[in-house]
Amino acid sequence: MRTDTGQVFHLKNYKPTDFVVERIDLTFELDPVATLVVSRVILHRRAGVAEDAPLVLDGDELTLEGLQLDGEDLDHALFTATPDSLTIHGLPATAPFEITVTTRIAPEANTKLSGLYRTKGVYCTQCEAEGFRRITYFQDRPDVLAVYTVTVIARKDEAPLLLSNGNYLGGGNYDEGRHFATWFDPHPKPAYLFALVAGDLGVIEDSFTTQSGRQVALRIYVEHGKELRATYAMDVLKRSMRWDEEVYGREYDLDIFMIVAVSDFNMGAMENKGLNVFNDKYVLADPETATDADYANIEIIVAHEYFHNWTGNRITCRDWFQLCLKEGLTVYRDHCFAADQRSAPVKRISEIRVLKAHQFPEDAGPLAHPVRPASYREINNFYTATVYEKGSEVVGMIRTILGREAFRKGMDLYFDRHDGEAVTIEDFLACFAEVSGRDLTQFALWYSQAGTPSVSVSTVWNEATSVFSVTMEQTLAPTPGQSRKQVMHLPLAYGLILEDGGEHVGTPRSGEARDGVLHLTKRKQTFTFEGVPSRPVLSINRGFSAPVTIAMEQSAADLAHIARHDTDGVARWQALNDHATLHLVAAARFTRDGRPAPDGKELADILVATAADESLEQAFRAQALSLPAESDIAREIGSNIDPDSIRSARETVLAEVARAGRDVFGRLAEKMPEVPYSPDALSAGARALSGVALSYVCLAEGSPQRAKTVFDGADNMTVMTQALQVLAHQFPEAEETTEALATFESRFEDNPLVMDKWFAIQAMAPGAATLDRVKALMDSPHFDRQNPNRMRALIGSFTSGNPTGFNRADGAGFRLLCEEVLAIDQRNPQLAARLLTAMRSWRALEPGRQELARLALVAVSGVAELSTDVRDIVERTLAG
Ligand code: PHE
Ligand code: ZN
Repeated sequence: MRTDTGQVFHLKNYKPTDFVVERIDLTFELDPVATLVVSRVILHRRAGVAEDAPLVLDGDELTLEGLQLDGEDLDHALFTATPDSLTIHGLPATAPFEITVTTRIAPEANTKLSGLYRTKGVYCTQCEAEGFRRITYFQDRPDVLAVYTVTVIARKDEAPLLLSNGNYLGGGNYDEGRHFATWFDPHPKPAYLFALVAGDLGVIEDSFTTQSGRQVALRIYVEHGKELRATYAMDVLKRSMRWDEEVYGREYDLDIFMIVAVSDFNMGAMENKGLNVFNDKYVLADPETATDADYANIEIIVAHEYFHNWTGNRITCRDWFQLCLKEGLTVYRDHCFAADQRSAPVKRISEIRVLKAHQFPEDAGPLAHPVRPASYREINNFYTATVYEKGSEVVGMIRTILGREAFRKGMDLYFDRHDGEAVTIEDFLACFAEVSGRDLTQFALWYSQAGTPSVSVSTVWNEATSVFSVTMEQTLAPTPGQSRKQVMHLPLAYGLILEDGGEHVGTPRSGEARDGVLHLTKRKQTFTFEGVPSRPVLSINRGFSAPVTIAMEQSAADLAHIARHDTDGVARWQALNDHATLHLVAAARFTRDGRPAPDGKELADILVATAADESLEQAFRAQALSLPAESDIAREIGSNIDPDSIRSARETVLAEVARAGRDVFGRLAEKMPEVPYSPDALSAGARALSGVALSYVCLAEGSPQRAKTVFDGADNMTVMTQALQVLAHQFPEAEETTEALATFESRFEDNPLVMDKWFAIQAMAPGAATLDRVKALMDSPHFDRQNPNRMRALIGSFTSGNPTGFNRADGAGFRLLCEEVLAIDQRNPQLAARLLTAMRSWRALEPGRQELARLALVAVSGVAELSTDVRDIVERTLAG
């Protein structure tokens, strides 16, 4: 393990490289313990660079086996090689030259899943962000673009399949028992997009004809025998390719597009040029083993990686500070894609839920950072909800401010102007400023200021003059390294809903407003509307047009009015959710103080009415019925959190709703969607509604019987896991639950991805007792500490999906996590660091738990041999 050097990288120190790479030829002789890598690179000194400036190449745990300049062995006095760098002196002043670097690496021993490693006998690479330097010495940074030719040599029996980026040039026998293949990628790319895969895999094939009539071969490689489970991913791939042509005019640019599914992967998937590598969880699906949520994830991730071909690959990032340039934008594009494939409001509701659940707490805690960070110690720790999800929201706001047409023009200009380049956020924003004539200087603060802005809103209605005024004031709390903040540009979509449910049309007399959006650009601003015929109810931040929190005194009656009449479906859900949140927060506070909970009849009535309202989409009703989670309530309360009182208050409210709607829920739970199973949005919505209804009706009945019957009769994984979850979470001690868990285990023990659901459901069973269950499950024969998916399913679900279990009053949850993090850090620092981020909200806990959390973190930071990844997270978590 490479331990921390304490080095910090700063955006302001950016400098282009001294040497320009023209092209690179790589040859791999694959071997599990001794793979030979020969890299021939043609470079020249950049104009203006001093003649004695050395060439400095990055490495990571490398040993140099050979070094040549223009084919001649280089004098030892002219270079220095360490595991992390290779420095070469005495290179030509102006003429291009070729250096040949030979390294030997051991893929089998590479447990970090970065660089070249092996998973189930398959050789595979992961180079983002800095994995290429674990393969060969190179200028491993995104602004070094080169044309790659790659030759892979391997034993035929071990690796009948030899893949790399670009188009296949040719191949054949090499020597006794070995063969080779050569690939050429004509598009200049940074090293992080390099990929190689070699092994014995099954394939499904298809093809796509681009809008200009070019034929593209499509291949998805999976383990033998699992080919049919890649059918859905293939379908999504073709839909994504078509969508990018139709919506952005972007065509695919190689003869072949390949996806390889592997079972050991640190992230979701990777957009390597022409050769995407996926965590198999996001490729494999069939009704028997995948849930509706799995299908939805596959849809979005396949699309996301494909969309990177233009936003990320053809136009890439100048440096890693600009990560959101490709990630935020590509998430924005996959959101739009999914909205077009499914119900747009329901999709948006789930995005809002994700943003609030993951990004808001990040922004409110010690790990808060701007969408474009200004410094980092370990870039791997910046693949965050802020960079991805908030980064996407920022792009969405640009579109809100510019309007659809100008936004598309700006994107066209961006593709046109920067194709083949490595660029910055400034370059991106300049395109939108130019096409719209707007000054985006203030808007650009969204990229540099961390934290979630808060907007307090007050309204005055003057009946005599028919004037309605809205006063808004924005604040932004300090975040690590940023104590003072500037005033931002917040685009807030709005509606004024009148007494009769109609909407007042008309823009305000004062304050900037266009197309249904109020532009809050000052600290405090009043927007005045005239000729408003009755007291309106303000629906603000409709559709979550800006990722902010709104503080507004709004009565339950007004929220109910919005929920009933708003023309925007997302806003109707927001009103219901706000109503539920207000009530749950009050209930949790009362419970903590030992007071009886407030009456929840009003909330229960409106939820039951929504459940029964057949004019509404089923998926929408399911969303409305899913009350804010314990963690959502905790976030609203903000400090001095007692997870137990939150849980008990929430359960009381759930029970009230369940009682009030017992008959409605009973009927809905029985409305099992049609057979055979289909993963489309409509039928998924039907299952979501019957699933949430099942959970309410079981609560009302106080018996596991109904859930057990559903479990036994389930013919698809969605319904099966819904029922299993009701059993395990509501009736942990029941015989039915034990039986269902055992049935599930014996039926799916050969399918690790399905066993992940079994681990996760058990790990999320609320309450202090779950900790021992989690420990026992870690000894289960189905568990594998080395596999990131298994760790996330068990440990990750426990720490981020089980507030009462993880935050146990005796601190045992924190200690369990910290011990596991230290153990994994030895093998896979990226995974260890990511798991540790579950501690990020520790300061919001009540003092007793806070102290126990602190002690667990201090124990981690006291360990001398920590990876840079974990060192960075633990120190920021303690400091913030
Ligand atoms: N670039 C990948 C994506 O978002 C994520 C990733 C980052 C994968 C780093 C692996 C390593 O699509
Ligand atoms: Zn991405």
